[in-house]
Amino acid sequence: PPRPLILGIETSCDETAASVVGRDDAGAPVIHSNVVLSQVEEHAAFGGVVPEIAARAHVEALDGIVKAAMDEAGIGFDELSAVAATTGPGLVGGLIVGAMTGKAIAAARRLPFLAINHLEGHALTPRLTDRLAYPYLLLLVSGGHSQIVLVRGLGAYERWGTTIDDALGEAFDKTAKLLGLPNPGGPHVERRAAAGDPKRFALPRPMKGNPRLDFSFSGLKTALRMAAQAAAPLSPTDVDDLCAGFQAAAADSLADRVGRALTQFRDRFPDLADPVLAVAGGVAANRAIRTALEAQTARTGVRLVAPPLALCTDNAAMIAYAGLERFEAGMVDGLDAPVRSRWPL
Ligand code: KG4
Ligand code: ZN
Repeated sequence: PPRPLILGIETSCDETAASVVGRDDAGAPVIHSNVVLSQVEEHAAFGGVVPEIAARAHVEALDGIVKAAMDEAGIGFDELSAVAATTGPGLVGGLIVGAMTGKAIAAARRLPFLAINHLEGHALTPRLTDRLAYPYLLLLVSGGHSQIVLVRGLGAYERWGTTIDDALGEAFDKTAKLLGLPNPGGPHVERRAAAGDPKRFALPRPMKGNPRLDFSFSGLKTALRMAAQAAAPLSPTDVDDLCAGFQAAAADSLADRVGRALTQFRDRFPDLADPVLAVAGGVAANRAIRTALEAQTARTGVRLVAPPLALCTDNAAMIAYAGLERFEAGMVDGLDAPVRSRWPL
């Protein structure tokens, strides 16, 4: 039988992306192409993603991005096994563009269609990059999500913790905005923090010691705003110190939550030969966050797996790969599959 080749489409937020993923003769996943067009420029002047602008940009870009992904993979539509598209959660306008395009290709080529949950794409990425065996623990920290998920198997996810207010990336972005740094702010906060004194401003460590595994970052954001107001007008050094203080508090809070989850993971699966914590989401790029996670995994005897950043942030290879696992399991969807702005794993 021909090897599986899945076209994946991702349009749930401000990235227009398409990718072709398959397997080699040994069964290892292969990324044949992975094309991502960021809309950051389009939204920059507004300080955040504007849904209507995002949807229009997806309409304009997606056909060309799909063609680029097919060309880069060097295959024609008749060689595909199935088409996968993100159908939620996310901004509905963009989801409709991606889902309709994917369904149109599937209908025209008489191919199975796979409706993929964006979070499942993130959750399965370490199987694409590192061929992880189930089960493993996943930390997803992006602009829209902060979750600890037990990945037990395909379609079998247990959410152990989530944020009760802001996502971690969102907290970084709001901090940047408050301090006059460009959006998306995470990388800017990290850069300024490197020059700052993390101890000058005493900021809270939200949820630290809480027996549940949830996150909270809005209290930290408020404390930061008050510290910034008290120190105004802010010198460049003040901004550096505020960034450093925020980042240290965020990393500390995250370390506490993750450390607790890792202990529970070890207790639940004491016999795992290779217990793993995998990270996904743009915030995983942050060195201070990485260092905190390294300390917690080392302490609990867990291996930390961090896929390459291009696959940690939003992309279509993760959608194609989730589609590949679903296709192989016979879990295909109809062309009437709906898009869903909210869709918990
Ligand atoms: O996963 P992602 O690309 O998109 C989604 O939100 O789905 O994550 C983007 C988020 C933004 O909030 C951005 O500020 C944050 O990840 N981020 C960072 C860093 N790089 C990106 N946060 C902290 N430090 C970084 N170096
Ligand atoms: Zn994402």
